Amino acid sequence: MTKLTDAPEAILLVGGKGTRLRPLTVHTPKPMVPAAGVPFLTHQLARAKAAGVEHIVMATSYLAEVFEPHFGDGSALGLHLEYVTETDPLGTGGAIRNVASRLHSGPDDPVLIFNGDILTGLDIRALVATHRDSGADVSLHLTRVEDPRAYGLVPTDDTGRVTAFLEKPQTPEEIVTDQINAGAYVFNRSVIDSIPAGRPVSVERETFPGLLADGAHLQGMVDSTYWLDLGTPQAFVRGSADLVLGRAPSPAVPGRCGDRLVLDGAQVAADAKLMGGTVVGTGARVEPGARVDGSTILDGAVIEAGAVVRDSLVGAGARVGARTVLDGAVVGDGAHIGADNELLGGARVWCDARIPRGAVRFSSDQ
Ligand code: GDD
Ligand code: MG
Repeated sequence: MTKLTDAPEAILLVGGKGTRLRPLTVHTPKPMVPAAGVPFLTHQLARAKAAGVEHIVMATSYLAEVFEPHFGDGSALGLHLEYVTETDPLGTGGAIRNVASRLHSGPDDPVLIFNGDILTGLDIRALVATHRDSGADVSLHLTRVEDPRAYGLVPTDDTGRVTAFLEKPQTPEEIVTDQINAGAYVFNRSVIDSIPAGRPVSVERETFPGLLADGAHLQGMVDSTYWLDLGTPQAFVRGSADLVLGRAPSPAVPGRCGDRLVLDGAQVAADAKLMGGTVVGTGARVEPGARVDGSTILDGAVIEAGAVVRDSLVGAGARVGARTVLDGAVVGDGAHIGADNELLGGARVWCDARIPRGAVRFSSDQ
């Protein structure tokens, strides 16, 4: 098949297990957890579309069956979407290789590749232009972070050419830069075809170091736009709030950006306070005197009277009892937390768990 237009195609990597996000990812793959009222992936698809991308192939694996029923052929978003599922996960590089037969691009055409958990203001067209202008084989979006240890480190020379790729460095000597792989690439189609087929491959641990060793040209584009990997509960909650507040740009936020987003069919008591980019999902209820700040309340959840919910996520159909305080906590789908509990800093309540009234506190109840 040939391409109908000059628009670059894209591959979206959405097959990871989302282990660090559990219990949010027990029933839902990470890219489908709602952020600012829609499955997170919707924001990435809408941003790709806005940059002129038309054809996107999704590489799925974990809970693969939920993507297609939701996004279908992509026409609702003005896109042409295809899905390819790995029976056994093939890793990031293996997943890219595994969808190659669906691409329409010629050998020298640029193909965009996105990690499926990144919220960013990246100028996608600028990345493609950098790729074209530098004549690179692969171009990578890079960003600077304070603590790079959880990422791929990507030092560059003074022309932006990548000199090494160090995934998740283990020793202090390996921390040679604060520039990290931001999870968006442009590959020449021929480079995708050169990845070995039919076995797991890590693009970060095998493909990039291998290309560098072979003298390939990898070009980095560093910028200081909004960037967040939504791989942990705290990051996910932050990202959703930033979308609602308008700090993170997305054409897919359903409604005007502001302090709060209350979806159709949610009920919020007149004296309840919603702020800091809080989202209240369809059919959810926030009762009198409750205060919800910078948090995501998913569909059908209930926040009872006088509860205080800060920087937290409350799963679909879950219940937070009266006067209970959540701060930096995640409550799985269907869990019930009784009245007068206190769950702070990183607490994760599993799906359908029951916590009785006054059972967990971090301070005296008097
Ligand atoms: N199809 C498929 N198959 N997708 C996968 C697989 C797989 O076997 N494994 C991971 N993915 C997808 C995930 O769903 C995610 O969208 C993306 O690949 C990256 O996986 P993560 O698990 O989120 O990786 P990470 O956050 O630890 O590190 C990656 O992202 C960092 C930036 O956030 C690396 O690319 C780092 O180098 C980078 O700095
Ligand atoms: Mg990630």
